[in-house]
Amino acid sequence: MSIRLQSQTDRLRAVLSELRVAGRTIGFVPTMGYLHYGHRSLIERSRDDGCFTVVSVFVNPAQFGPDEDLDTYPADHDRDFELSVASGADLVWYPERTDLYPPESQTMVKPGALADRLCGVSRPQFFPGICSVVLRFFNLIKPDRAYFGEKDFQQLAIIKRMAADFYLDVDVIGCPLQREADGLAMSSRNARLAPEDRDLALTLYRTITEARTAYAKGERDAEALRTKLKEGWPQGIELDYLDFREPVLLEEVATLAADTRIFLGAWLNGVRLIDNDALT
Ligand code: PAF
Repeated sequence: MSIRLQSQTDRLRAVLSELRVAGRTIGFVPTMGYLHYGHRSLIERSRDDGCFTVVSVFVNPAQFGPDEDLDTYPADHDRDFELSVASGADLVWYPERTDLYPPESQTMVKPGALADRLCGVSRPQFFPGICSVVLRFFNLIKPDRAYFGEKDFQQLAIIKRMAADFYLDVDVIGCPLQREADGLAMSSRNARLAPEDRDLALTLYRTITEARTAYAKGERDAEALRTKLKEGWPQGIELDYLDFREPVLLEEVATLAADTRIFLGAWLNGVRLIDNDALT
């Protein structure tokens, strides 16, 4: 029987503390809800790793800017519970805002250089907000393992860095990005795409495919390829960034290599889209 907790932080901590005493490994999948197969694959991985699997559903206000989609972020708590349980979750927690940010709480995490690039340029509050909520979650849940998707590759790198910098006793595990049949990276925000925008949304995936093909044909000059891909970028979808970076410190590269990743961020009629992949 899976457990559903609405707020009830004390109960959450009591349940997890009993399990820890009983020797269970605790796996944690943090989400902002409106689950898709990308989330489900993280839950399944935690289950397959033999963990007691905790899923959180919380739309974290601290990671949204004033003009972003906090108020329109899609939500369906009952469906999220069903999908979580079907994927192997043992406990789904829906904290209230005050469970994580009580009125007296003040402290926020300021990540370092990894957060000042890519999404961090146009969304300066994003990674401080993510680190601040994830650290609160880690301290409340005390997971042995925490699972994050590689769609948010920069988020994963920053959280791994935070866990190391703060000596957190948690194994941060990255899991592959999941795509729709047409190649669109799975995202809860895809639900907000107008049907007529779907094809334009595929620009990110098409650009990745083009970059991988160019690399396979011998292109090694990052700036030349970036310029070419930007020239082919269609009207109607606003490009935020198109960068080639190495996968650890996320520094830009001048020469493309097998482990170089292409990173893309864009807006399409107010919907934020990101994608990334290795060139091979
Ligand atoms: O990736 C997300 O959905 C969010 O950034 C996270 C990790 C749940 C923190 O709010």
